[in-house]
Amino acid sequence: MSNIAGYVSVETSDSKKKFPVIDLRSDTLTKPTRAMRLAMLDAEVGDDVYEEDPTVKKLEKKAATLTGKEAALFVTSGTMGNLIAIMTHCDVRGSEAYCGEESHTFLHEQGGAAQLGGVTLCTLSNNPDGSFDLAKLRSKLCKDRLHEPISKLVLVENTINGKVVPQKWIERLAEMARSHDLKVHLDGARIWNAAVASNKLVKDLVAPFDSVTFCLSKGLGAPIGSLLCGSECFIRKARRIRKVLGGGMRQVGIIAAAGLVALEEIIPLLKFDHARAACIARVINDFKNPMFNVDETLVKTNMIFVNIRSESISSTDFARRLGEVHDDAEDDKVIIKCLPLTSTSVRLVLYHQIDDMMVNAVIRKLRYVIMRMVV
Ligand SMILES: Cc1ncc(COP(=O)(O)O)c(C=O)c1O
Repeated sequence: MSNIAGYVSVETSDSKKKFPVIDLRSDTLTKPTRAMRLAMLDAEVGDDVYEEDPTVKKLEKKAATLTGKEAALFVTSGTMGNLIAIMTHCDVRGSEAYCGEESHTFLHEQGGAAQLGGVTLCTLSNNPDGSFDLAKLRSKLCKDRLHEPISKLVLVENTINGKVVPQKWIERLAEMARSHDLKVHLDGARIWNAAVASNKLVKDLVAPFDSVTFCLSKGLGAPIGSLLCGSECFIRKARRIRKVLGGGMRQVGIIAAAGLVALEEIIPLLKFDHARAACIARVINDFKNPMFNVDETLVKTNMIFVNIRSESISSTDFARRLGEVHDDAEDDKVIIKCLPLTSTSVRLVLYHQIDDMMVNAVIRKLRYVIMRMVV
């Protein structure tokens, strides 16, 4: 098997053996390709705090062009990009931003908006397609300037849990936000997956937004970095906030170089991740074990959520079993790492280093385990 994620030692009943590991916990596990490493070696660099790093400038220009925005800023991570966007848009003390309750910004960014930005996040329940109710949003907007925070920003995530958010809804949201003098930011960590899945250009998907963050270090496979894109004026303010957060980096062209390769080399491969994810989802349903199923209508990009309907088997049990080798059967002799996200759901994520051979091994292991998991 090529590109295998690594080997670990596992105790089996007879002896200590090594088994291949296929790591499907996240697309953040990608490793830089040879082309990325070579580009890093040769990168022309300068001090980026002085705005003198030519490779960073090239990446920022490319990001701005691809997203159809005036300017872009290279930041360390998606978390930093989102936080800077919030702090830049919410420039009045006591501001409030609105987001889905399943959003990464709300759940997994340490409440940085409040912790570091002094901004409250007000959540709205996400619909199954990732959108949220616009009437509910309108009802949450603050009108009482004395007692309430000041409504400033709406945050959207696309893709969210692998789903592509309906563009028509995004357009209606943006229109409504503007009519209430609110800015709209997109956490587009995986916006390239959304673009590939919907056969649209990124610049069209992000046109309704005032700003967008996208990540180079997820499915695109670069080791580090995200881009925050928006108007010239927005990026000028964002650059200042990046500095206070410790995100002013120096000869960072060495990393930006890998990002430039990622945009060229990996975007054309995303469609294969999506096809492989759809294939795994279909096969799981074909096993026809009533305890395990995937909602295939939600598998549009590189993520699969396996639903477990059982009183006795939890998502942790299932994930643990996939990560173990119990038997001498060939199909069992591979370790699949995956993420139990809730007590009844396990996430599997595809990325370009998971090739067809590995997908076959994953399917065989899933079949082996699922067919034997009965109550
Ligand atoms: C949707 C989304 N937004 C933002 C982030 C944060 O990115 P980073 O890990 O680069 O901070 C992640 C990370 O997985 C994510 O999935």
